[in-house]
Amino acid sequence: MANCTRPEDPVLRTILYRLYREFFDRAEKKRRWSLQTDIPWEECNPSLPPALADVVESFCAVELYLPDYVAKALPLIRANRGWAWFHANWGYEESKHSLALGDWLLRSGHRSEEQMADLEDRVFAQEWDLPADSASGMLIYAMVQELATWVHYRNLRERVLEEGGDPALCRLLDLIAVDERAHYAFYRRVVQLFLELDRPTTLEQLRRVLHGFAMPAVHLLADSSQRQAQIRDLKLFDEETYFVEVYQPILEVLGVHRRELRRWSRGLRKLSPYVK
Ligand SMILES: [Fe+2]
Ligand SMILES: [Fe+2]
Repeated sequence: MANCTRPEDPVLRTILYRLYREFFDRAEKKRRWSLQTDIPWEECNPSLPPALADVVESFCAVELYLPDYVAKALPLIRANRGWAWFHANWGYEESKHSLALGDWLLRSGHRSEEQMADLEDRVFAQEWDLPADSASGMLIYAMVQELATWVHYRNLRERVLEEGGDPALCRLLDLIAVDERAHYAFYRRVVQLFLELDRPTTLEQLRRVLHGFAMPAVHLLADSSQRQAQIRDLKLFDEETYFVEVYQPILEVLGVHRRELRRWSRGLRKLSPYVK
């Protein structure tokens, strides 16, 4: 029974291919957007507080680790077409996120071409490594990370509005947030399936991911602690946000009771999305 969640399992391949086709058709119909025509670039606000531009740069840096996110996860799932094709499509959508954030930093005048090139150099100097050692562990990590990322973007948009607004940035944050939510929904659906197929193993992986979760890649940059402090100071995301907006909703939607996650009390003390 435990082997039925391996990527190469024939039943899993059939189901994930169907789920991917549904996801892809919906994305093509309702969610595609254009960097060139869907963002009012002429309405960038150069006077937005620099701290918010710094956070946009931090989020852009996280999205810039895309080559590692794609290259290191694909080999785990290459035998499962639906899963692998989802990941390729996910990579396309994530590639637009860093383009949009980077374009905003340049067009708003908050960063120069040289500064952006320097950021890229710093990102590509360090490789991101997989936070889980199996395809199913990565699936669960991705589900948690996508919801957490959605919360980050939603909260940043709220802060931008409070600080005088920026129609271009708000629009692109909206578009990105919709993508992140769709990624979360797909991963959540598959994790629900995994719980049906092999509940004990999936619960153990869920416990490990939820209790040791950290946002990807931010810790790889030399100035990462400053960037993480800024995210907390602006009240975009912290331990409490993680618990209330990510941890609890995920357990609820999956129908998993806290009791089912072993060593709960020890894990609770460890919740810290920015300490790794
Ligand atoms: Fe993204
Ligand atoms: Fe995403």
